[in-house]
Amino acid sequence: MQEIKITRAATLKEKPDSSTLVFGKSFTDHMFIADYYQGKGWCDPRIVPYGPLQLDPAAKVLHYAQEIFEGLKAYRTADGAIQLFRPMDNIRRMNLSAERLSLPQVPEDLALAGITELVKLEQDWVPHEKDTSLYIRPFLIGVDPALGVHSSHHCQYIVIVCPVGAYYPEGLAPVKIYVEDQDVRAVKGGTGMAKAGGNYAASLRAGDRAESKGYTQVLWLDGVERKYIEEVGAMNVMFKVGGKILTPDLNGSVLDGITRRSCIQLLKDWGYEVEERRISAEELFEAARNGAMEEAWGTGTAAVVSPIGELAEGDEKVIINNNEIGPVTQKLYDELTGIQWGRNADPHDWIMKL
Ligand code: PLP
Ligand code: COI
Repeated sequence: MQEIKITRAATLKEKPDSSTLVFGKSFTDHMFIADYYQGKGWCDPRIVPYGPLQLDPAAKVLHYAQEIFEGLKAYRTADGAIQLFRPMDNIRRMNLSAERLSLPQVPEDLALAGITELVKLEQDWVPHEKDTSLYIRPFLIGVDPALGVHSSHHCQYIVIVCPVGAYYPEGLAPVKIYVEDQDVRAVKGGTGMAKAGGNYAASLRAGDRAESKGYTQVLWLDGVERKYIEEVGAMNVMFKVGGKILTPDLNGSVLDGITRRSCIQLLKDWGYEVEERRISAEELFEAARNGAMEEAWGTGTAAVVSPIGELAEGDEKVIINNNEIGPVTQKLYDELTGIQWGRNADPHDWIMKL
């Protein structure tokens, strides 16, 4: 891999107060960029002062959304060290998304170095306050200045980082989720399993509608029968019903969440039966009506493990576990965050120390 050239910012920003951090609003002093040219490959890996990108107004990403991204975090441990959680899983998923969007594969060593070298340079930005972290957003864009619908020959891999607190203003309090019955997020053969920016653009209208009704996010249904639940805007979902854990299977239109896979592993370690299968919204509402629904939660890097206290579809609303965080949700949150912040042992080798 070529050496990463570092150009330091002339002045450094004032860091935000880490006791009042929100999600994704303040960015650090530097960013990582590498270019790809078809026929030449990856070149010019560099860390430069954080700032606006120079893009041609005809750049493909601006017109045809040739973009994919990832999300992971750097955590500050009690001894002041910094660690990442399953970064290679993010890098492999990024390359799967890239393949779907006809973007070039980023060699794993380049993808990882872009993350680790930037985080090392910005180490003072990794907050110390409980439940805070440095969110890492790698992304890949096609930047050819040409309006023909073809994949780009010039692409960029960019990494930006930002100190964050809880994703939801609710913190660990239960969120309210609305089952979306008009728009769909993804279909098999589409881009649902990729972390493509376009998926999120298509989700905004339903998210806005849900928010205006007082809901935090929507729960998407499958795009064909509009019956089976898939995932929430920024999380996979799990339900504890009659003692068993249920979660939608990875059917090609659901994102293969890294928090999801980690939670499934922990639940299995603890002896729970986890069923990954098709789950209809009707099955969930029926379980809630007849008292079999014990807990519900979402899983995601930004959202961590987030209890779901209310589920609504049309005019029907069900309250789950008295709108309180349940014992399994709490145990998952404690164990996962314990591993991430280095308080607990890491039996599955999920941690990469910097
Ligand atoms: N589903 C969607 C649509 C997401 O945006 C995310 C967030 O990354 C997830 C699920 C959870 O994935 P992960 O646990 O890898 O962050
Ligand atoms: C993440 O959890 O990393 C995400 O990408 C969710 C999001 C803010 C879109």
